Amino acid sequence: MVGCAEVNKSVAYSYSPLSYVNEIEPIFAHNCIRCHGVEVARGGIYLTEYDSIIMVSDQILEKIENTGNENMYRFLNSPEDAYKIRDWIQKDNMAYE
Ligand code: HEC
Repeated sequence: MVGCAEVNKSVAYSYSPLSYVNEIEPIFAHNCIRCHGVEVARGGIYLTEYDSIIMVSDQILEKIENTGNENMYRFLNSPEDAYKIRDWIQKDNMAYE
């Protein structure tokens, strides 16, 4: 029964905070700013600058849910991108760096 102890070993979980500069800006740049940039701002939403992004964080959270409705989730490359944006807004206090 010695082997059983192995199974119960807890794995240390480390969460590293996401930052706008490193993880979030590239997601918006690749997937969103062609419709939410300076020249074209669909829905009046600008996703090119940190200051304008944090002002609409609630709308972003709503629109990146995978609801199957008309939303912005479909423009993301992967579910991970949606998780990252959500964690950055909700857990990481929209850290800049
Ligand atoms: C192909 C063009 C296009 C792309 C790419 C795009 N959007 Fe949009 N977006 C729109 C249009 C059109 C609207 C206005 C209609 C609506 O609200 O659905 C909009 C509206 C929004 C809104 C405002 C919703 C509200 O509450 O009024 C948010 C937030 C948003 N988009 C976020 C994003 C994010 C985040 C991405 C990248 C993952 C993205 N969009 C990519 C076209 C686009």
